[in-house]
Amino acid sequence: MKAVVWHDRGKISLDNVADPGIRDSGDAIVRLTMSAICGTDLHMIRGTFPGMVDGTILGHEGVGVVEEVGDDVRNFRPGDRVVVPSTLCCGACTYCRAGYSAQCDRANPHGHLGGTAIFGGPEPAGPFDGMQAGYVRVPWAAANLVPIPEQVIDEQAIICSDVLPTGWFGAKLAEVSRGDTVAVFGCGPVGQLAITSAFKLGAGRVLAVDQVPDRLETARRQHADPIDFSREDPVEIMRELTNGVGPDRVIDAVGVDAYPGPESETSESEQRAAAGGEAPTWHYGTLPSQAARWAVSGVAKAGTIGVIGVYPAGFDAWPIGSAMNRNLTVHLGNCNHRPLIPELLDMVASGVIDPSNVVTRQEPVTDAIEAYRVFDEQQPGWVKVALEGMT
Ligand SMILES: NC(=O)c1ccc[n+]([C@@H]2O[C@H](COP(=O)([O-])OP(=O)(O)OC[C@H]3O[C@@H](n4cnc5c(N)ncnc54)[C@H](O)[C@@H]3O)[C@@H](O)[C@H]2O)c1
Ligand SMILES: [Zn+2]
Ligand SMILES: [Zn+2]
Repeated sequence: MKAVVWHDRGKISLDNVADPGIRDSGDAIVRLTMSAICGTDLHMIRGTFPGMVDGTILGHEGVGVVEEVGDDVRNFRPGDRVVVPSTLCCGACTYCRAGYSAQCDRANPHGHLGGTAIFGGPEPAGPFDGMQAGYVRVPWAAANLVPIPEQVIDEQAIICSDVLPTGWFGAKLAEVSRGDTVAVFGCGPVGQLAITSAFKLGAGRVLAVDQVPDRLETARRQHADPIDFSREDPVEIMRELTNGVGPDRVIDAVGVDAYPGPESETSESEQRAAAGGEAPTWHYGTLPSQAARWAVSGVAKAGTIGVIGVYPAGFDAWPIGSAMNRNLTVHLGNCNHRPLIPELLDMVASGVIDPSNVVTRQEPVTDAIEAYRVFDEQQPGWVKVALEGMT
């Protein structure tokens, strides 16, 4: 099969690789009909989320059809259409049962302290081959496959694999509730769906911070107030727009590849800390703590921050002193995808959430490497890139 393969920082290629097979009686093989490129893939290529192994198939977003199941998979049969959640879980341990599927005790081969297991991710997260490929092996398939309602097409279902659950999770982490003013940092696909989710959860107003005109315009079409941090100080504008108080809730949908505002200095030491001591590549963030710093200084006193932007384990330049002295509440983490997906698929099926704002490009997998380049450059029109034609 064809697959997008990570070889080194800055080096990926579309390779011919062997089809995966059933290895364990709990596995399923899914033929992928659609995959997508995520900002998290960019961190792994830039090197700002280190630990990748040469030969790993990229991609943690997938929709497809069950091709084959192991003997212990009772609840799915070949032919079933499914969404595959980005993070893996077993469905049976105490963490899974409590809803913390991203902290599953069993899915990560490194054991119960191994952290989140993810498709197409670094060695400490599995490693598991990902879904920018013709087929994927899904371990713990009984728990990790989610059936797709008949009326939901692939272009809608694909956002339920990662970006919509993560945007929703971010709004929940930030404790968005009726009437709140919410600021979302980062207007990539995850930020756009955090804006959507904040409005659905009752936000009275949403402020959207980025510097890419096309992404700010997409946020405006959702009726968020765009703030362009390359032209104005986001903390000042957020206060101006909120009667001097600041937003009640802030969602960080930027993560480690953050760019500085005109008044900030870039930081090589932060860049290296993010990239595990190496030099990052492609269009990496030159001030990794920038979104975090603006979030902490801009949110209202005693407000809440939800962090879904990814920061690697070795990164610790987070403004804890200022957060502590402003009595902030901070929730953060990898999305617990599996338990959120069924409800979100229903919201997409009923038209309550419309993914067409977000999935702006559908590209054949044969053009995947070029698509990565253009997404990395944040060219106009390239918010979320779905890949198709893998088989
Ligand atoms: N927690 C999770 O489970 C989870 C799941 C999926 C994605 N993520 C993470 O969410 C983040 C966003 O993903 P994406 O696919 O939307 O990525 P993306 O790269 O498309 O979007 C990031 C956006 O942030 C903007 N940005 C950069 N610096 C900024 C700053 N200082 N202030 C405000 N905006 C700034 C960029 O211009 C860009 O539009 C990434 O860190 C990704 O790894 C986390
Ligand atoms: Zn993703
Ligand atoms: Zn589990």
